[in-house]
Amino acid sequence: MPSIQGAHKEKYRYQNGFNSYHESEAIEGALPIGANSPQKPPYGLYAEKLSGTAFTAPRHENQQTWLYRILPSSAHSAFEPRESSTYNINLESKPHGKIHHIPNQLRWDPFDLDETVDWVDSLHLVAGAGDPTMKAGIGIFIFAAGKDMDPHEAFYSADGDFLIVLQHGLLDIQTELGRILVRPNEICVIPRGIKYRVTLPKGPVRGYILELYQGHFQLPELGPIGSNCLANARDFQAPTADFDEDTSTTWHILSKFAGCLFSAKQSHTPFDVVAWHGLYYPYKYDLGRFNTIGSISFDHPDPSIFTVLTAQSDRPGTAIADFVIFPPRWLVAEDTFRPPWYHRNTMSEFMGLIHGQYDAKTGSGFQPAGASLHNVMSAHGPDAKTHEKASIAELSPHKVGESSMAFMFESCLMVGVTEWGLKKCKKVQEDYNAESWEPLKPHFKRPDKIGNGTASEESVLGGKAQVPH
Ligand SMILES: [Fe+2]
Repeated sequence: MPSIQGAHKEKYRYQNGFNSYHESEAIEGALPIGANSPQKPPYGLYAEKLSGTAFTAPRHENQQTWLYRILPSSAHSAFEPRESSTYNINLESKPHGKIHHIPNQLRWDPFDLDETVDWVDSLHLVAGAGDPTMKAGIGIFIFAAGKDMDPHEAFYSADGDFLIVLQHGLLDIQTELGRILVRPNEICVIPRGIKYRVTLPKGPVRGYILELYQGHFQLPELGPIGSNCLANARDFQAPTADFDEDTSTTWHILSKFAGCLFSAKQSHTPFDVVAWHGLYYPYKYDLGRFNTIGSISFDHPDPSIFTVLTAQSDRPGTAIADFVIFPPRWLVAEDTFRPPWYHRNTMSEFMGLIHGQYDAKTGSGFQPAGASLHNVMSAHGPDAKTHEKASIAELSPHKVGESSMAFMFESCLMVGVTEWGLKKCKKVQEDYNAESWEPLKPHFKRPDKIGNGTASEESVLGGKAQVPH
């Protein structure tokens, strides 16, 4: 059930539906009827097309939006590099940069709040793979900000789509296509190129970002599950047109372009879109609306049943990025070790915790605002304490994850860790493995032998000797 009702009142109106063709006008009659680019758009507006896919992308993938605005986006000065010591948005895959590809399991203590910076300066790339210039791969960021962006500043990323997972605070995001309030337990996706400005109505914010350099997020296929469950399309919310009228103030437009930040000036607000229609827009989703499913007999399915959004590679079923959550849910499986099994995965798994306690890690090391990374084929699973508890637990129906929300960015790519993520942030737990898995004890017992070398009747019949605990 929605978990944020009443806690922070909604202040904006939205249009509902995932990948729905929306249209919105802040002034009645601002959308041209029939034509996209009439000789004279209504009210003296300029028509501008925003393409999120190639013009010729297949119809089911095609994402474009027509904007009707007071001045076109192109009216600005040249972009200049903007240097800063506060942010880190580069994958460091440049010849002189450093990125660490290491097989160790990694875990981070909670990342600090930082009240001295705004949204843009708060971005810190922790890990990633690929290259935005090739439109291939992902970037994983931590953000922690305490200041509103300047009143006359807007930001966009040319590198990819931002999937923002808010862990702390409230985000009030003014986008070209309208306003979005992101509340605790909600996520927000801002596609490549869309300009926005972030303010913080409740003070400091913190969270995680998955930047997708290629394609766009989709809902996962449901296969035999059928036509409902997991994240339902109607629960995704897109903004409605909302514009400012300002053609006399100097604005700074910040562009994240190939992992570097640039700034240009213009004499008008970028938030002047009076009407729009299309399929390419930002949206938000309340994780509390996720309809979780699971086993009602024995064993448990792969965690892919918890996928909220996916971005597929060219190989069907293999994701460049899956966004997966672990919401509160009932465990009822019989004769089953209920936490995740021990495993090694050809995919890489970056996890974070929004609030509460993750059921596979009941020790104190995985905390809200912290993170972990289990890279390609890096072995992991429940820590020793969780294994011990789960192996003797009474298997009655049991609810896990109450008031908790862990999530995972899973990728088929091998993820490298930046210098900031491994060293500068000073949050890596040196004793992660020693604390989690090195204490695991062997419980193996050979079956009892009878003098002639055959197994005893008890062990053949599955007696106590075969039960590992
Ligand atoms: Fe895993």
